Amino acid sequence: MKVLVIGNGGREHALAWKISQSPRVTEVYVAPGNAGTAIDATNVPIPVTDQEGLLEFAKANSIDLTVVGPEAPLVDGLVDQFEQHGLKVFGPSKAAAELEGSKVFCKNLLHTANIPTATYQSFRTAEEATRYVKERYPEPDDAAAVVVKADGLAAGKGVIVCDSRTEALEAIDRIAERKEFGAAGNELIIEEKLVGMEASVLAITDGETIITLPAAQDHKPASDGDLGPMTGGMGAYCPTPIVNEAMMERIEADVLVPVVHAMKRARRPFKGVLYAGLMLTSSGPKVLEFNVRFGDPECQPLLMRLKTDIVDLLEATADGKLSELEPLEWDERPSTCVVMASEGYPGDYEKGRVITGIESADALENVKVFHAGTKLENDQILNDGGRVLGVTALGDSISKAKLQAYKAVKEIRWLGGWCRKDISDKAIDIS
Ligand code: AMP
Ligand code: GLY
Repeated sequence: MKVLVIGNGGREHALAWKISQSPRVTEVYVAPGNAGTAIDATNVPIPVTDQEGLLEFAKANSIDLTVVGPEAPLVDGLVDQFEQHGLKVFGPSKAAAELEGSKVFCKNLLHTANIPTATYQSFRTAEEATRYVKERYPEPDDAAAVVVKADGLAAGKGVIVCDSRTEALEAIDRIAERKEFGAAGNELIIEEKLVGMEASVLAITDGETIITLPAAQDHKPASDGDLGPMTGGMGAYCPTPIVNEAMMERIEADVLVPVVHAMKRARRPFKGVLYAGLMLTSSGPKVLEFNVRFGDPECQPLLMRLKTDIVDLLEATADGKLSELEPLEWDERPSTCVVMASEGYPGDYEKGRVITGIESADALENVKVFHAGTKLENDQILNDGGRVLGVTALGDSISKAKLQAYKAVKEIRWLGGWCRKDISDKAIDIS
């Protein structure tokens, strides 16, 4: 069968790599892809925003299954378009994808369904939000443990964690006045700042059956020790010991099952990947956000461990037949993914710098280098985005997986290329 993967990040490289291992698959296309997907699959130069172009390609090439990687085309209704033309596609509908596309929609749904999350208020203007903060924190130097969030999609960056009234007012100004995240800031949320360890729990659902994947942990801030500005994610590992079996059962019962039911009741049945970003607080797990697709970079260490044919899983979800699938099989060994980024990311960065050493990193045992922001030009691999590579390794323990991933990182060089040095340390501290 022929499969089309839509997107060009590390997640899509991991998906294409895993899908191409299926004995059922003859051809994997990636639109538009990157330098890595050009090696493991066939790139098609159609941008994710070109719904007509993608649809035409899928029809003309008799694509049997399309897998949508990123959130933006899901929120824009690509799945609805494909289904209207009778094409099989993995991912939620436009209406269901609003769970990620609008934080106000998500918070309201969580509230209505009594799913644990931070207390919040939503606002349509900077003035309203400013007034609220000033009323709650009357003195200019008041402490204010709040999080200010743009409603819409902002590549993981539209969330500002604050400790003081000054920071909260500045965050409101950036989101709702200066519109740093564009139309995503047309509405905003101010919520209570939660304290605890974070975990990503991803589940696959066809709207009826839910299959939970092993918990992973992302590293969203740019610098070691979780300091610095938010990024799309600087590394991840899986499984994380901070979610034990009892905690996973609680997350399934208190979060995942009620969300799937609530979406059905809201006439937005959810199928695809339901990704719960959670804070494990002293009063139990609370939802920070929902995503409607695989996490990037969580997808890379997850798929490194998946033994089941992923095409069976994706197809059963699209067909609404997840209940018929055998339990998923996983490699017992943990995996760690270290993201290498361009100089300046998550701010401005230069593109077009030559990357060396990927082949020797890839040749190391139990290592796979997933490409994200790369492109191939004159037989050279160049950086072409903020997050450039996801260097992923399996090991007999998390510390061994970490060691192997960083050994591979050492092989890779380009001007200004950098990474966090502490990916998975939180797990090592616990175990
Ligand atoms: P989100 O995109 O909503 O998951 O937010 C990105 C990051 O901001 C999360 O991974 C957390 O590190 C942080 N964050 C979001 N909401 C809160 C909250 N209510 N309390 C503390 N940290 C938060
Ligand atoms: N790793 C965070 C995200 O994919 O949104």
